[in-house]
Amino acid sequence: MRKPLIAANWKMNKLVEDATSYGEDLIEKLKAENVDLKKVDVAVCVPFIHMAALKVIFLLRGVGVGAQNMHFAESGAYTGEISPAMLQDMGIEYVIIGHSERRMYFGETDEECAKKLKAAHAHKIRPILCVGESLSQREAKEHFDTVRRQLTGCFEGIGREDAAGTVIAYEPVWAIGTGKTATSQQANEMASFIRSVVEDLYGTDTAEQVIIQYGGSVKKSNIAELMSMSDIDGALVGGASLDAGEFAQIVNFDPDVVGKEQKVR
Ligand code: PGA
Repeated sequence: MRKPLIAANWKMNKLVEDATSYGEDLIEKLKAENVDLKKVDVAVCVPFIHMAALKVIFLLRGVGVGAQNMHFAESGAYTGEISPAMLQDMGIEYVIIGHSERRMYFGETDEECAKKLKAAHAHKIRPILCVGESLSQREAKEHFDTVRRQLTGCFEGIGREDAAGTVIAYEPVWAIGTGKTATSQQANEMASFIRSVVEDLYGTDTAEQVIIQYGGSVKKSNIAELMSMSDIDGALVGGASLDAGEFAQIVNFDPDVVGKEQKVR
């Protein structure tokens, strides 16, 4: 049984005061929506400076806190970076790795992502690995090859158990922040392709366990349909997660489709 994971990605947004009020508001709104956190995992991935405050607010309330990036080294002369040991020390549960904005603006490679994946697992932080094609790659019908190449590169040297514990977020670059969502069929087609790549790399059991999210203009109006698809186990939500009320509604997508058990073809 795969437990869905709905994760917020604030990106570079919110000041200290906004972050605190969001945290308190989210707890209230999740209660108001009657969200059962035993059935769905919820995480909020925030800028480093907001993590401590949110850890305090979410303490014992079942909502995880995530980082949006980290360095792979334990410590050292890397000015401006944050290490996996630091995140673990703070009790951070998740880290986004290889987001397309980091690949695009900061030159992050699959090789670096593989090192970060390994480091995250070594520190018991659950990685959310982002993959996805650009518009030109989709138009050239290279989307499957692109995603396969990213997965193969990022999982280089990662053992089976760590692979099973990695969340994979399929985020087509053309759907991020554009208001253009992939159709649920397009999203599911790629999610099942991703599962088949995991099966090729690690076998059927691992492929059945791995959580695959869709990300790219997810909002309360399209989440239920996306989550009803056979291979989509969650969502990584950017813009629409900035409002605690809307994010709580997204988390409360549709209790009937929670806990899917899907056979790998
Ligand atoms: P979006 O961002 O929901 O604003 O499209 C998603 C993401 O980049 O994780």
